[in-house]
This record gives sequence, structure tokens and C-alpha cells, in this order.
Amino acid sequence: MTRLTVELGARSYPILIGEGLLDELGAHVAPLLKRPRTMIVTDTHVADAYLAKVGAALGAEGISFSSLVLPAGEATKSWEGLARLTEWLIGEGVERSDHVIALGGGVIGDLVGFACSIVKRGCAFIQVPTTLLAQVDSSVGGKTAINVPAGKNLIGAFHQPALVVIDPTTLSTLPRRELGAGYAEVVKYGLIDDADFFAWCEANGAALLAGDTAARAYAIAHSVAAKARIVAADERETQDIRALLNLGHSFGHALEAETGYSARLLHGEAVAAGMVLAHRFSAAKGLSSAADAERVRAHLASVDLPHSLASAGINTGGAALAAHMAHDKKVRGGKLPLILTRGIGRSFVTDEYGLDSVAEFLDGQAA
Ligand SMILES: NC(=O)c1ccc[n+]([C@@H]2O[C@H](COP(=O)([O-])OP(=O)(O)OC[C@H]3O[C@@H](n4cnc5c(N)ncnc54)[C@H](O)[C@@H]3O)[C@@H](O)[C@H]2O)c1
Ligand SMILES: [Zn+2]
Repeated sequence: MTRLTVELGARSYPILIGEGLLDELGAHVAPLLKRPRTMIVTDTHVADAYLAKVGAALGAEGISFSSLVLPAGEATKSWEGLARLTEWLIGEGVERSDHVIALGGGVIGDLVGFACSIVKRGCAFIQVPTTLLAQVDSSVGGKTAINVPAGKNLIGAFHQPALVVIDPTTLSTLPRRELGAGYAEVVKYGLIDDADFFAWCEANGAALLAGDTAARAYAIAHSVAAKARIVAADERETQDIRALLNLGHSFGHALEAETGYSARLLHGEAVAAGMVLAHRFSAAKGLSSAADAERVRAHLASVDLPHSLASAGINTGGAALAAHMAHDKKVRGGKLPLILTRGIGRSFVTDEYGLDSVAEFLDGQAA
């Protein structure tokens, strides 16, 4: 088992990573509880595969629990989902010292984290992520949110979990497309500030996606360590450090908005194409080489991830895509900070380039 810590003073918390940890969940949760009782929140897909196992692991330590199974899918991260969850927690008699368990992907993690930040003015929660995306990204760092009609993740709070338990064996049931989308966020850590890790991805990404458990475990631990380091340095994204995690996301956001946040393009798939666009834009501005941008494109293409506007299914003009970017919640004083790069593993934040120049660039990227 690998044990990492997110260093946040009094709010520091451990991240445990290991094959089979789900079966030991009770033993890791028990020391945190003031009473031997917890509430598990999950979705329909994850409940079918893992709720009984998690329940047995808690039962083995004498921990009683109740569970709420919400519909699988992004629509659950909504006002309706939040109302249902918070009212259920109150009905279950949740106390502020209780630890609610979020068992699932980023949708369940984000929703449960947000509910726990407001129910009775805040109770504790534990992340048990079951998608690759949640295991390498969303379960760590304390960003919680729901979506509203005006946009994704617009209502939320920073609320750190008390513990994160990652069991990579859960990935064996994850659909291949979801695995690929999570893998895009793995590659992102290499591109942010770790060229050696990007080279590792080039050499091992295909094996990881084919089910190589050693590659999977290495990538998760390496990615989570990077995320923990970035979050500890800039918890609330005030210093341009945590913002680097948005590499590929501003471009990706435009593609997601254009495809209506639908199954046409998963978040991680949009990020994959967005990372290529960020590297190409950087090359177009003379910040980095076209060869580096091509290296990023080639790797993502080799693992069947979208790597261009065309392969992401987008045939919209640059102006329309840039208009989506103008609605990004990161816009400050009318300018959108972009994460660009000086080469593989050398990304940085800048607001030097206006959306008009982004629109012109995107026009040139159309097939
Ligand atoms: N808080 C953050 O820092 C952060 C970071 C990145 C993304 N997010 C959020 O995460 C969400 C996306 O998360 P996601 O990609 O995990 O999606 P998800 O939670 O919707 O899970 C994807 C699908 O996989 C299913 N699933 C989950 N685990 C499974 C398993 N082990 N076996 C079989 N099926 C399984 C789910 O039921 C769902 O159908 C978005 O809402 C995004 O905004 C948050
Ligand atoms: Zn992302």
C-alpha cells in the first residue's frame, strides 16, 4: 500500500492507494469515527459492483451504515441531486462529526463533498473514488460543486475530505472509454511540469489502458502525488500554481460546451484534444516547438483519445468556440488566463493572449 499526505496543516489528510483496499475499508475508516456508524452515497453502476463489498468491509469492523444510491450520470450533480442528498443525510440523523463515504466517480465525489460542506454547516467525508479520473484527480484537493443551467461547477465550495482510499482494482469494471478519459488527466501531470513522466506515459500508456496493474498503480500514485503537491502549495488557486491543473481545460471547455456536455465528448476526451490545442497554440505563438505539440498529439492519438478538433467531432468556427471560452468561470477582468507551454513539462499561466487571437488560431485548426 502507498500512503501519501495532502499537507494542509490541521486539515492534512492521508491518501491510501493499494489493490484490494476496498476489502479493508472498515479498518481505515474506524479510527476516524466518533460512533460506529456511517452513510454511504454511491450511484447505480457503482452500487451494483461494489456496495455489497464495501458494506461487508465496514460490517467486519462493527460499523453500521445506511446507503443512498443515486442515478449514474452527470445530471445527478444538480440542485435536485443536492436537495435529495442533503435531506436524506438529515433524515438519517447525520452529525457533524460523522464521516459520509462518497463511493464512485467524480460526480458522486463532487456532489457528496458539496453536500457535506453545507449540511449542518459542515460534516466530514471520505472519498472512495472508483473511476480513473476520480482516482488521479477529483477525489483529491477539496473542490466540490454541482452544475446549474448557467454552467458546470458554478455552485460549490472548497471542502477537503478526511481520507481518500483508492483501490485500483475497481478499474477492472470501468468502461474502456471512461478509462481513456481518466488517462488524459494522467498525461496532463507529465505535461504540466514532469517531462520524464510524460515519457513514461508514452512508453506505458497503452499497457496501462490494456489493464497492466503495475502500470496502473504507478500512474495513480505518481499522479496523486503531483496533485497533492500542487494542492498543498495553492489550495484555493490564488497563486497560478493550482491553475496549472487546468492545462487543456480552457480549450477543452469550449469543446464540451459545443457538444452540450454530452456523451459525444467526455470531459477527459475534451481535455485530451484541449491539451493538443494548448501545445499547438503555444507553438503558433513561438513559445514552444511544433515538434513538442506533435509529440503530444501522437501519444494521445496512439491511445485513441481525441487529438484535434476533427477527431473530437467539432466542425465549428473559431469565433463560436472562443465565445464559449469567454463564459469560462476563470475569466478575470474580461481576460481568460490560458495555460500555455514552453515545451513538454514546462507549462505556465498567462493572460497575454486575447480571445480574438484564440479564435483566429482555432479557425486554422479546423479540418
Ligand atoms: N473536484 C475536482 O477537482 C474535479 C476534477 C475533475 C473532474 N471533476 C468532476 O468529475 C466529474 C466526472 O467524474 P467521472 O469521470 O469519474 O464521471 P462519473 O462519476 O460520472 O463516472 C463515469 C461513469 O462510470 C461509472 N462508474 C464509476 N466507477 C465505476 C466502476 N468502477 N466500474 C464501472 N462503472 C463505474 C459511473 O456510474 C458513470 O456512469 C465531472 O462532474 C467533473 O466536473 C471534479
Ligand atoms: Zn479535468
